[in-house]
Amino acid sequence: MLEIYAHRGSSGTFPENTIPAFQNALLSGCDGVEFDVQLTKDAVPVVIHDEKVDRTTNGTGYVKDMTYKELQALWIKTGGVDASTLRVPRLDEVLNVFENSHMRLNIELKTDKFSYTGIEEIVWQKTKDNPRIIFSSFNMKTLQNMRALSDSVELAFICYKENEADEALLDAYQIQSLHFSKRAFPVRKTNRKLRYWTVNQTAEMETFLLAQVAGIFTDFPSDAVQLRERLKQKSLLSKEDSV
Ligand code: G3P
Ligand code: CA
Repeated sequence: MLEIYAHRGSSGTFPENTIPAFQNALLSGCDGVEFDVQLTKDAVPVVIHDEKVDRTTNGTGYVKDMTYKELQALWIKTGGVDASTLRVPRLDEVLNVFENSHMRLNIELKTDKFSYTGIEEIVWQKTKDNPRIIFSSFNMKTLQNMRALSDSVELAFICYKENEADEALLDAYQIQSLHFSKRAFPVRKTNRKLRYWTVNQTAEMETFLLAQVAGIFTDFPSDAVQLRERLKQKSLLSKEDSV
């Protein structure tokens, strides 16, 4: 299928996990977007990669220790553009960007450091009517909880190495996909969908696309889409190889 996902939105050219990064991803012609969800102290799901706000905003401290109102008072400081008018978006604001679009939404539940009790139910209630969702996590327990909420939603276990993926658990929770670090490539044959992160250089994009992996995550989705078109024009990829 060779799906191209914008990693944290178009995070190579816009501040990661912000509305402009997601709007640009939508315009890029890619197939999906990946983003990270954590919970504030008052249980509002927000889209931010780190457990702490220090790297990406002008504030300090953990997301889990701030109310949404406190988080809203902070502005985004990363991305190489004047981002002082940008805020950490709520999950529903990001979902709105992609409403009625073709885009698949890979929602990473960032529960590898804090479990954020109840995050699965909170996020599920906001997304259950959308058939284009994939939930992923480094935390198998989170995926188990998500499977208890839905028999059919696509789940992906994220890992760095093959030996982190326990086949018995993957089977038990009917986890359809594996999201590997690109350093794990190539991995053994499997019936699960294999997607790789984070593929940013043109040469490595070409390697993954020609290997016909299920998908790549990239900070530069426009570049990957253009490369995929060039490979199709050279007949190195068939139309059926890409979505
Ligand atoms: O989901 C793949 C990738 O996003 C996992 O790593 O640290 O970018 O969230 P990270
Ligand atoms: Ca992520």
